[in-house]
Amino acid sequence: MLKKTVFLTAMSLTFLAVPLWGKTVINEQVQGKQLLTIKAESDKGRISRNIYGHFAEHLGRCVYEGFWVGEDSDIANVRGIRTDVVDALKKIQVPVLRWPGGCFADKYHWMDGIGPRDSRPSMINTFWGGVEEDNSFGTHEFMDLCEMLGASPYIAGNVGSGTVKEMQEWVEYMTADMGAMAKLRKLNGRQEPWKVPFFGIGNENWGCGGEMTPEYYSDEYRKFQNYVVRFPGNENMKKVACGPGDLNLHWLEVVMRNCNRFMDAITLHRYVFTGNWGVKGSATQFNSELWVKLMENTVEIDSMLEKFVEVMDKYDPRKRIELYVDEWGTWWDQEAGSHPGFLYQQNTMRDAVSAAVFLNSFNAHCDRVKMANIAQINNVLQAMILTDGPKMIVTPTYHVFELYTAHHDATLLESELVCDPLAGSEKKIQSVSVSVSKDSAGTINITVANLDPENSTEVICDLVGLTPKAVTGKVLNGKAMNSHNSFDTPAEVSVTELKDIELQADKLTVTLPAHSVSLIQIK
Ligand code: AHR
Repeated sequence: MLKKTVFLTAMSLTFLAVPLWGKTVINEQVQGKQLLTIKAESDKGRISRNIYGHFAEHLGRCVYEGFWVGEDSDIANVRGIRTDVVDALKKIQVPVLRWPGGCFADKYHWMDGIGPRDSRPSMINTFWGGVEEDNSFGTHEFMDLCEMLGASPYIAGNVGSGTVKEMQEWVEYMTADMGAMAKLRKLNGRQEPWKVPFFGIGNENWGCGGEMTPEYYSDEYRKFQNYVVRFPGNENMKKVACGPGDLNLHWLEVVMRNCNRFMDAITLHRYVFTGNWGVKGSATQFNSELWVKLMENTVEIDSMLEKFVEVMDKYDPRKRIELYVDEWGTWWDQEAGSHPGFLYQQNTMRDAVSAAVFLNSFNAHCDRVKMANIAQINNVLQAMILTDGPKMIVTPTYHVFELYTAHHDATLLESELVCDPLAGSEKKIQSVSVSVSKDSAGTINITVANLDPENSTEVICDLVGLTPKAVTGKVLNGKAMNSHNSFDTPAEVSVTELKDIELQADKLTVTLPAHSVSLIQIK
C-alpha cells in the first residue's frame, strides 16, 4: 500500500521522531491539523476506471423500473430503457456494469431472456421477494443498455444451477460470428457479435451460488472455464473466479492454489453496516457513535485488501491475476413499507463518506484492484439512483462517484498523511481519508473525506515537486450527518464550491467541513 497514515496521539509523538517511510516526520504537528505530503512527480501505477464500476441485479426495482420500463411506458424511454436514469448515469461515466446477479446469476437461464418478449417464459425470483420474473429484460436489452451508457458488460454466468453447455452457448451467442448460436442471435436482430471483456464463472458459490466447498468449486471452475471460449474479436475476455465474502482466506487460498492457471481475476465481496447480518441498522436514524462504528468497519477494507493480496502474491507473484471487488457498499435494514426482499434503502452523507473511504482504498491498491462494483446501481442497497415510478433522484453516493471521475485512468501519486485519530473511535482509526492522482492533462486531483461527523478539520498539504498555479475545490455535504435526498427535497445533499482553500507557494491549507467529501484540483 502506498498511502500511509499515522495517528498523532500524545503517546505516539515520540515515535514520530524516528524515520518513517525513508524520511523524518517533524514532531511539530498541532492536533486538529492534518498533514498531507504529495510527491507530484511520483508514479504508483494507473488507477483503472473500472474501480468505479457498478452492479445491476434482477433484484427489487434495480433493473425493472430502475432501467427497464418497456417501450409502451409513459416514462420517457429508448427501446424500453428509461432516459432520465441513463442521462444521470452518463454524468458519472459508468465504466463497467455487472449483470444479472448476484445470487440471481446462479438461477438465471439466459435462453429464457431472448426472442420475442411476449413468448419468453417466466420464472420465480426465489432469492429476491419470490416475485415473478418475466424475462423481458435479457441479453439484448442489457447489451443495449451498456451501449447507451458507454459501459463494458461484465456478465456473471450460472454455475450453481446451470450447465456447462448453457454457459458455453451463452458466450458463443454473445461473442461468436459463426455457428448455431451466432445464427440465433442474428435471427433475434443483432448481426455483430458483442464484446464481453469480463465473464464471471459463478457468484458467491460458497453461499447462494450452490453452497459449495472451495475444493468442489475449484473443480467446477476448472471445468466450466474450459468452455468459456475466447472467440475472434473477443480474445481479451477475462475469466473471473469467485472469491470469498469478507476475509475467508481459506476459500481464497484453495481457489488460488487450484485454479490460478485458469483465471484472470478473482473476486471479493465486502458489505458494511453497524449491527449484524440479522439487524444491520437504520439507514437514516443514527447518532455519532453509529457513524463512527460504520467508519471503523469501512476502513477495515485496507487491511483486508492487504491480507488478500498477500495470499494472491503467494500463488501469483508476478501479479498477473486481477482482484475485482465486484460487490461492496453499505447494507441497511429495509426501508419501512418497502417490499420485503427488495433491499431498498435510503442513502445519507454517512454512506457517501463510507464510499469515499472505500474508493480511496481501492485506488491505493490499484496494482491489484482493477475493478470494483458498488452494490447496486438503482433502488437496491447503496444505490446511485432512486426512483418512485416516474420520479428520479440521485443519492449522496452518486455525487461521490461524480467527484471521483477525476481519478479514472489517472496515475496514482505517492502521498503520506499524518492525521489525528477519529474522535470517539476505540480502534483509533484515521479521521481523514485521502487519495491523490495526476490525470493526463497534468492536473493533480485530491479526493479527501472528513470522517468526523461533528467537527471540521484543517488539512495542510505539502506539494513536493510542484509549484501550483491554480487550485479549485468542490465539496459534497448536507446540513447533518444523516442528510439525504428525497423525492420532496432532491438537493438536500449536493456539491458546492469548496471555499476554504488557501495557497502559499507549495503549501495548501484546506478546511474540510464535518461529514464531507471533497475534490481539490491543482494545476
Ligand atoms: O447485492 C445483494 C446480494 O448480496 C447479491 O445478490 C449477493 O451476491 C450478495 O450476497
